[in-house]
Amino acid sequence: MNNKEFLELVKNVEVKYEKDVGKDHYRQNYHLMPLVGFMNDPNGFIEFNGEYHLFYQYNPVYPEPKKVCWGHVKSKDLINWEKLPVALAPLDWYDSHGCYSGSAVNDNGIFTIMYTGNVKDDDGNRETYQCLAKTSDGINFTKDEKNPVISNQPKGYTRHFRDPKAWRHKDLWYMVLGAQTEKKQGTAVVYKSKDLYSWYKVGEAAGSNLPDLNFLGYMWECPNLFNMGNKDILLFCPQGVEAKGDLYNNIYQCGYLSGKLDYDTGKLSYGKFTEIDRGFEFYAPQVMEDSKGRTLMVGWMGLPDEENSPSIERHWLHCLTIIRELQLRNGKIIQKPVEEMKLLRKEEISYNGIVLENGEVQFQNIKGDSYELLCDFSYEKVQSFGVKLRCSADRKEEILFYYDALEEKLILDRSKDGFHKSGVRKCSVENSGKLRFNIFMDKSSVEIFVNDGEETFTSRIYPRQGSEDVIFFADNGTAELNLKYWKI
Ligand code: FRU
Repeated sequence: MNNKEFLELVKNVEVKYEKDVGKDHYRQNYHLMPLVGFMNDPNGFIEFNGEYHLFYQYNPVYPEPKKVCWGHVKSKDLINWEKLPVALAPLDWYDSHGCYSGSAVNDNGIFTIMYTGNVKDDDGNRETYQCLAKTSDGINFTKDEKNPVISNQPKGYTRHFRDPKAWRHKDLWYMVLGAQTEKKQGTAVVYKSKDLYSWYKVGEAAGSNLPDLNFLGYMWECPNLFNMGNKDILLFCPQGVEAKGDLYNNIYQCGYLSGKLDYDTGKLSYGKFTEIDRGFEFYAPQVMEDSKGRTLMVGWMGLPDEENSPSIERHWLHCLTIIRELQLRNGKIIQKPVEEMKLLRKEEISYNGIVLENGEVQFQNIKGDSYELLCDFSYEKVQSFGVKLRCSADRKEEILFYYDALEEKLILDRSKDGFHKSGVRKCSVENSGKLRFNIFMDKSSVEIFVNDGEETFTSRIYPRQGSEDVIFFADNGTAELNLKYWKI
């Protein structure tokens, strides 16, 4: 099959299922999703010539055997996205079983992609190739004649060796790859190059072979290594981490180490591993710096090997998160919805000084399945308070998000979301008498930013159509609430 035939095939499945997909009330209103089929990791996030480009792992023929290519969209404002043709198709000997995740760089004016070619032989053995592709018009990409630029893995690693994230430092290129050692430990390997073609291994930024990181599993996927202020941050997705109390409860994790990268050895000095999100679905984020100097991040609102979604019946699965700006506050990454999200706000409704006293409060004009909600709570003596989202009239469905002031924990409970039968995620937040929730509700997801991004909870939810009520509550005591609401 050649590229033209592949694009034709994608177009045909998109046309075939588009109508069916469109009828699905779980289709998101303002999140990026595949037109049909399966989406996973965001890839190649970059601002180039004043436009943001975002690619994603896309298998349009899902659930038929994988044909993983790179879907492509671009935008001037991070809000309105234009769909472009598939950028990379798995048609060459070095990527025949998938154009896997990677990143994009501006190589002296040339828009260049670095990705992993995945190959499997008839016995299921994997081969892994790091590859380049370029474009002159920002739409049509040509794979490099010299591909692959790295064939398989260096000594000491298995063929789980992928997801190059490249960046420029002084006069060299660097990249970090997700890897597995022969002893089945996850690590992040740093390479350097003068020209993006000849790559030399520098070392390992960190890995679960280190005594204090030994809980971090057998494989690290999708690493990002970037600088913010005086810190270098390694953000990655370890697989094989055991749950520990409120921590690491998803099938796979995503979190970061922060310290200083030694460019001579590739080693990162680091503090403790911190989960980046506290919800049920957040994985494989891509981080980039834009021309305004902002560090932006987008994640996949899904997890590998987790395909239990009712949208499968309508021939599509998964979506991306909203774009977030990262900042450091006291050494911790905080996440804010990117400023441009305000463009989506319709008319503002606000209520101030609402007293929640041992019971519930509801407003007729605050409801829906696509909105932004900002809640500022203040409290002294109360056991718990918060909000019930997407409640059905019969109250059989509701998503609970609340603060337990005795436990000093935030709690997201989606066990009555209309689809999942169980599910609670918690994280500790100090009792300070004040708490802010900024909630982004879409048809089948919720993203909650707590205390201006100190913690986030990102999750898919599947309420029935019409489950739209919002109810504020306090138990065993009083909390005061100021709120703002915008329909989106
Ligand atoms: C993470 C991941 C990557 C890989 C890609 C394949 O979700 O497994 O490691 O490149 O997905 O689609």
